[in-house]
Order: sequence, then structure tokens, then C-alpha cells
Amino acid sequence: MSTTFQLDTSTSRANPTPAPMKRLTVPALRRRKQDGTTAEPIVMLTAYTARQAQLLDPHCDLLLVGDSLGQVIYGLPSSVPVTLEMMINHGAAVVRGSWHAVVAVDMPYGSYEQSPEQAFANAARLMKETGCAAVKLEGGAVMAPTVAFLVARGIPVIGHVGLTPQAVNVLGGYNARGRSEAEAAKIVSDAKALADAGAFAVVVEGVVEPIAIAVTEAVDSIVIGIGGSARCDGQVLVIDDMVGMFERVPRFVKRYADVATTISDAVQTYAAEVRARTFPGVEQTYQPKG
Ligand code: KIV
Repeated sequence: MSTTFQLDTSTSRANPTPAPMKRLTVPALRRRKQDGTTAEPIVMLTAYTARQAQLLDPHCDLLLVGDSLGQVIYGLPSSVPVTLEMMINHGAAVVRGSWHAVVAVDMPYGSYEQSPEQAFANAARLMKETGCAAVKLEGGAVMAPTVAFLVARGIPVIGHVGLTPQAVNVLGGYNARGRSEAEAAKIVSDAKALADAGAFAVVVEGVVEPIAIAVTEAVDSIVIGIGGSARCDGQVLVIDDMVGMFERVPRFVKRYADVATTISDAVQTYAAEVRARTFPGVEQTYQPKG
């Protein structure tokens, strides 16, 4: 799969096609935070497919091809088994479906932790084979040398602190972080280390609200909350969570639609019509001419 494939607008079902426009850039996003204040908060959502990207792109500043696709798309128990190939395929699709937002792709577990060199080789593959403009990786101060290595070599990086889902086996679950003083202080110092290393943005996930605010105030980079605070510089949610594709939603998710019910109702009606032989109707069948 490669980003050199463009959507074929004459044959693709993915119409209406978005109007070509100038894509936002990482420096433009970074400039939104001036002297510790972000007048216009950054709107970010995950996206995994070309069609999703088309629908989200006009409204978003950042599209994240999250490794949450492990659970959301592939039905895996966590993001740990997600591979670089999965991220490349979905990353390329999201770049093809978008014109406006900065597209960032998650580095999957095992693709960057070993050394800065390993991280560079895999981040470069993500950039070349998807056309994305940035990568995201999890972990705090321990990843700062890797972030600096990538940024110095032309790869914009988003850090990710607090609840880091790739570390679920160490954390023992997906509970909110930062409830003890020591844990809270570590989250803030981790975010600072990533920002000092050159991460243009830091995702802070699943932390008690005062910690999300403290992180936002402590670093110059843009801080994107998920289960954080409205006072972060921006917000991200998993698209399938916010449109209501799943029954179970974490506390920090607001459901803006009930797409699962819409799909379920449509399929129930389709099944009934097939069984009653009322589908296809005249409108859906080809009749001999003349
Ligand atoms: O993988 C993902 O979707 C993420 C976001 C929830 C921040 O990392």
C-alpha cells in the first residue's frame, strides 16, 4: 500500500469528494499556543479509513490514525498486538481521504522502544509509506532521547503520557492515573521531558483533571486531552466511541450520535425485506431496454 495511490473520484464510492485545499502544517498547529495560551483549541479525532477521513477532515485540525484500531477495527484485546503494517495501511487510507488536517500515525508497540535508531527506521517508513506528517509514541522521560533523535531528523513527534494503553500489562488496566502525588509529579515531569526533547504536542490521557491542567500549564507544546480537562489546548476522542459504535464507553467519552442503533435498525429492515422478497425492488434491478 502506498500514498501514491489517489482516490479515483470517478469510480470511488467515497463521494462527495472533499475540495482540495491547503493542508494545515505542524508548525501552524504549534503556533496556536502562544505564551501558554491557545485561543483556538485543537480539534483532533482518530480516523482509520479513507471514508472516515473524508467525513472528519473538514472539521478537524489533527487526524490520528491511532493504534486503538487494534480494538476498534480488528477486535483485538489491546493495542499491544498491532503491527507496523496495520498502521501503514490505515495511515495511507486516512491520508488519501483527507485534504486539510495534519495526519499523525501511532507507532505501534515494539516499533520504537528498543533504540532511537529503531524508532527512526520505523517512523521513516510510516512517513514514506503513508504520507503522514507526524508520528505519535507513548512513554515519558524515558522516550525523550528518542523524540529528540526523531525531531532532529525531520520527524514531527507527538508524545503520550498518563494512561498509556500500550503499557496496559504493566499498569494492570485502564484506570485514571495521577491519583497519588508521586504519580502526578511523574506525569508532569514526563510531559516536560517530551516537550523539551522537541515533541510539538503531548497527549495526556486518563488523568485526574488538575494534572491535565498542570501539564497544559507546564509545557509550551500543545497539550491534547483525552480524559483530561477542557482547559487542555485541544481534545481527542476515538471516533467510534464518540459516534456511539460501542455499548461500553469510558467515562471520558461523550456520545454525540448512536450510529450502532442506526446500523442495527437498517440491517434488521434489510433482512426482513430479503426474507419477504421485497428487496430488490424495481428501482434496484436492471430491466431490458426498449
Ligand atoms: O490510539 C489512540 O486512539 C490514541 C488516542 C486515544 C489518543 O492514542
